[in-house]
Amino acid sequence: MFSGLFLLRMTTLKVAVQKSGRLREKSLQLFKSCGIKIDNGKDQLKAVATNYPLEVLYLRNSDIPQYLQDGVADIAILGENTTIEKEKDIQIVEHLGFSKCRLSLALPKSENYTDLSWFDGKKIATSYPNTLQSFLSKNNIDAEIHQISGSVEIAPNIGLADGICDLVSSGSTLFKNGLKEVEVILRSEAVLAKNSNLSSTKNEYLDKLVFRIQTVLRANSFKYVLMNVPNEKIEEVSQILPVLKSPTVLPLAIEGWSSLHSVIDENKFWDVIDQLKIAGAEGILIVPIEKMVL
Ligand code: PRP
Repeated sequence: MFSGLFLLRMTTLKVAVQKSGRLREKSLQLFKSCGIKIDNGKDQLKAVATNYPLEVLYLRNSDIPQYLQDGVADIAILGENTTIEKEKDIQIVEHLGFSKCRLSLALPKSENYTDLSWFDGKKIATSYPNTLQSFLSKNNIDAEIHQISGSVEIAPNIGLADGICDLVSSGSTLFKNGLKEVEVILRSEAVLAKNSNLSSTKNEYLDKLVFRIQTVLRANSFKYVLMNVPNEKIEEVSQILPVLKSPTVLPLAIEGWSSLHSVIDENKFWDVIDQLKIAGAEGILIVPIEKMVL
């Protein structure tokens, strides 16, 4: 679609990706799954795609919303929590389903916590002062916010704060620091966001990129499923399967049996597996799908 010479001459879409941090590798993996080849030199802060009009800028996570608003970057992959905290004029285009986490309040395990009023008059350390302040104001809690830029979980142990407000994923950082999560302020995941004033050409490239991303994301959550079913049970089994359209039915070499193929949402599959077995399905295989275009 985009030849090498054509790419040299044309407008490129500048995408901001984390310079370091949890989203970086998954963001680059997503571009790879979308068939986009990026020439990454060691320690390079800028890289270009060789087969798509895309330029990657590796930036500090907390700077990305500002760069996106200013148009230094056209689009970005970043945590939804960062877009909320920074309150910039940018638009979320797509939720990407990875790097899921929550922004939570936590405090030392030994504390007897009953409700949010515990935080009244207390000091809370966080890298998310805006999100925390708006949560506290909404809940009429008057607490002091102590802003720090990293290692937030250590704050109560060194007497810097009574509690913390930070991202929690597996919960292991809280556990290792003797803290317990007591309130979830918001849930977040990686998102694709864009500058609000993209040119029509850039919007066109973005639409094509989003189509590829959706194709990859859909394939990740759906599975190809095959099962053997006695012919007289095909109708019954088909009705149990939460299929997209109708399943493919192929005859087996054994008389009276068929192989039933379908595509299903993996999560829904686990809800119906027992029903499928009771209805007579056997030899059920679940196979990953690489790409899925509807
Ligand atoms: C984040 C966050 C927590 C930790 C939580 O830090 O700030 O410290 O992850 O993850 P867990 O619940 O799985 O232990 P990260 O390592 O991303 O780096 P950061 O300190 O630069 O934010």
